[in-house]
Order: sequence, then structure tokens, then C-alpha cells
Amino acid sequence: MPSRLEATTDETEAHMRTTGSTIFLPGGTSGIGRGLAERFAARGDRVIVGGRRQELLDELAASSPLIEAVRIDMSDPASIREVSAAVQARFPETDVLLAMAGIMRPEDVTTGGFLETAEATVTTNLLGPIRLWAAWAAFLTAKEEATLITVSSGLAFTPLALTPTYDATKSAVHALSDAWRLQLAGTGMQVVELVPPAVQTALMPGPNTAHAMPLAEYLDETVRLLEAHPDATEVLVERVKPLRFSERNGDRDALMRTLADAR
Ligand SMILES: NC(=O)c1ccc[n+]([C@@H]2O[C@H](COP(=O)([O-])OP(=O)(O)OC[C@H]3O[C@@H](n4cnc5c(N)ncnc54)[C@H](OP(=O)(O)O)[C@@H]3O)[C@@H](O)[C@H]2O)c1
Repeated sequence: MPSRLEATTDETEAHMRTTGSTIFLPGGTSGIGRGLAERFAARGDRVIVGGRRQELLDELAASSPLIEAVRIDMSDPASIREVSAAVQARFPETDVLLAMAGIMRPEDVTTGGFLETAEATVTTNLLGPIRLWAAWAAFLTAKEEATLITVSSGLAFTPLALTPTYDATKSAVHALSDAWRLQLAGTGMQVVELVPPAVQTALMPGPNTAHAMPLAEYLDETVRLLEAHPDATEVLVERVKPLRFSERNGDRDALMRTLADAR
């Protein structure tokens, strides 16, 4: 059975241009976001990277004439509103919004001590992209063609016991991506969901990051898929397919237990 990625080839749909885009990428100071920002700039896109760590923002802005950097706190609604308005005013040609910012922290739900972590995770990973889209909806839907890229996770489909709220926010991002895509079907908006597997970044450092996919391999495969399937709804590297399709494959419970035991 073809993946949803391979199944979507309606040529009349809007799709992300493979070069010459202007991309706003909050969550681009490190890891997957930084790697994509560098690759997009290398192929000729302009990228406005956002994040909180000023020294990394400065470093990125100095690294390429096609990379700009802005300080944004995705857990703060005022910061999202104000920085979005400033980026729209300064870069009116922006046609891709990539909601990459996210946090992942372990929780112990056998006591109530997890609540602060859970609330912070919902604020950044779920309210963050919702607030971001609210700040960009009018601007981007007024364009003939534009793209919203969301970032869920294989754990949206097969949860990791150690990070329940993280898993839940990523399931929610998947649901939002599907429902937003349907509502936006009459506009020039394309909604693309990146569904990364475990990738070697500093997202949640731990003893087992070695089993995760090397970052460069993930970036290579993702950029290749984006270019080969410009009308994709989900970008699924091979490594994420067991997690993405576990329910369909009939091994979701077994895989959940394997993941839980591996930590
Ligand atoms: N690595 C994986 O295994 C994996 C798997 C599935 C999905 N993902 C998703 O991929 C995305 C990127 O993660 P990563 O693995 O590349 O980890 P990472 O290196 O920790 O990157 C996280 C990015 O989010 C930004 N961020 C976090 N909180 C923020 C806030 N309040 N305001 C603004 N920016 C904020 C960070 O920037 P500052 O700290 O500078 O603010 C950083 O640029 C996340 O959404 C994550 O859930 C990762």
C-alpha cells in the first residue's frame, strides 16, 4: 500500500517551490531546524531563522547572506505575534512557514510532579504552532501559493512511555495538520507535515541517542523527499515508517513495549 506521501500527486494543488522560497523557521537554531535552514540556504532559498539562543542566531546570520535571524520565544504569545508581524513587514515575500520549535522532556506520571513539564510541553509544542498559524493565516492565505510545514513525530503514532505529553502534542500536531489542510483546501495553501523518527539531536539527550538516525542522513532524505514529492502531505523517511504505520501493521502494542523497554 502506498504511503500517503506517494499517494498525493494532484498537479493542480499548490506546492512548495523547490528553490527561491522565503522561509520563516522558528526553531532553527539547532538540530533538524538548523540543518534544514542551512540546506535551504545552500540551494538558494532565503531563510529567516528564529529561536531564543542569541549566540546561535548570530552565528547562523553570519554564516550565509541568505540566512537572517530573529529572536522569538514560541512559548510567549506576544513574542509570536510581534515577531511574526515584524518578519511579514520586513520580508513580505515570505511564502513558507516552518513550525519547527519543540521541546521533549521525560515525565514521571506516578506522582503529580510532572505537571510543570506537561504544561511547558503543551505551551511550546501545541499552543506554539497554533499561535504561530493564527499570526500568519491572513498573510499567507492572501498569497497565490504558500506552504505551511508542521513537525510531528513518529511518536505521534506509537507513543514513548517516558514522554506522554510530548507524544500527545505531536499527535495533536498531526490532527491539526490534517484538519487545517482540509479547511485550507480552497486557498493557495499547502500543508506539509514532517514526521521525523528518532534523530540524533540535543532534543532530549540520553543514553540511547546512538540508536537514533544520524542528523545528516535524516536531512538528506527529507530534502530529497521534499524535492521529489512537492505535493506531499507527509514527509516520511524510511526509518519512521514502522512507527507511523504500526497500527495498520498490527504491531503498535508490541512496538510501544519495545520502545518503553529500550529506555
Ligand atoms: N530529534 C528527534 O528525534 C525528533 C523526532 C521527532 C520530532 N522532532 C521534532 O523536531 C523539532 C526540532 O527538534 P530537534 O530534534 O532539532 O531538537 P533541538 O536541536 O533541541 O531543536 C529544537 C529547536 O526548537 C527551538 N525552541 C524550543 N523551544 C523554543 C521556544 N520556546 N521558542 C523558540 N524556539 C524554541 C530551539 O531553539 P532555542 O533553544 O534557541 O529557542 C531549537 O532551535 C521539534 O519539534 C521536535 O519535537 C525531533
